[in-house]
Amino acid sequence: MTLRAVIKGSGSALPARRVSNAELAETVDTSDEWIVERTGIRFRHIAGEHETTATLATDAARRALEAAGIAATDVDLIVLATATPDQTFPASATKVQAALGINDCVAFDVQAVCSGFLYAMSVADSMIRGGGANTALVIGAETFSRILDWEDRTTCVLFGDGAGAVVLQAEAGEAGILSVALHADGRHNQLLYVDGGPSTTGTVGKLRMRGPEVFKHAVVNLATVLGETLAKADLSIADVDWVVPHQANRRILDATARKLGLSPDKVVVTVDEHANTSAASVPLAFDAAVRDGRIKRGDLIVFEAMGGGFTWGAAAVRY
Ligand code: COA
Repeated sequence: MTLRAVIKGSGSALPARRVSNAELAETVDTSDEWIVERTGIRFRHIAGEHETTATLATDAARRALEAAGIAATDVDLIVLATATPDQTFPASATKVQAALGINDCVAFDVQAVCSGFLYAMSVADSMIRGGGANTALVIGAETFSRILDWEDRTTCVLFGDGAGAVVLQAEAGEAGILSVALHADGRHNQLLYVDGGPSTTGTVGKLRMRGPEVFKHAVVNLATVLGETLAKADLSIADVDWVVPHQANRRILDATARKLGLSPDKVVVTVDEHANTSAASVPLAFDAAVRDGRIKRGDLIVFEAMGGGFTWGAAAVRY
């Protein structure tokens, strides 16, 4: 039987502080009405002083291990997707490793912005199928609130903080990651980026985005890559039980579903509660739908995401 990377459990973590659009409008020239109409976002969580990417990632990882019934010491690989690490180095994955009390395993970060979780999952899947790992923690964690320009209403209302994690384990059978499709096109670097970094300005920088242009690329790329990953697994859109998309904007989710001929009932939406949490958004949405009973064992799920770079990708998974 084919050896696959099976999702054994999931977990997530959100900062304690939950901020409504109305609260944001007290300090930013915006309104609840504008944000809801253009994005579907109602709330976002903002990290407090003692909450960081690594602490949120650790909480999500603990919950995922608990759900999987797997001990932290069984983990031999941690891949953490983030564009907002605690420090430039070491990798935040090693901070999670230390916090979980795992003294020796492979641990590193991947950086593909909002597609980071898809990239991280693909790396872990390849290592598991290649025999380089048996039990992997794949985490998406971000504190985008720390790189937002709170004077720029065209971006600061769109993002939030959080973390999501899954435990993948090698198993022979029908379940697991069936196919992955990943892409990047660096010609679009300047449509969504951070205007600082260790090797250029020596500062952390702030997020900059040409939103309407990103929007147009997102719908086309996401619909195409979703079809591509299904074709790779010899499946069609009719086989899909749930699409778990990157949660950037409700209008992108609706437009992509329309383009694919997919019923909106099959799309997991959490953008209203979480806003765009970049690499954390897919595992956060997945964990929410598992815990509220929508996603069940045996379901066929497609994850998809697109982010700065541009990077984009999708994965078909039998849960
Ligand atoms: N509150 C109130 N008004 C705002 C605002 C805010 N937070 N942000 C922008 N506006 C104003 C603009 O200034 C503009 O005013 P003008 O017409 O007087 O110039 C008007 O709203 C329309 O702006 P526009 O940027 O054309 O709006 P839009 O309908 O394209 O929506 C986004 C903007 C950012 C919500 C939308 O383009 C988007 O979601 N893009 C994708 C972004 C994304 O998800 N990126 C992440 C992918 S990983």
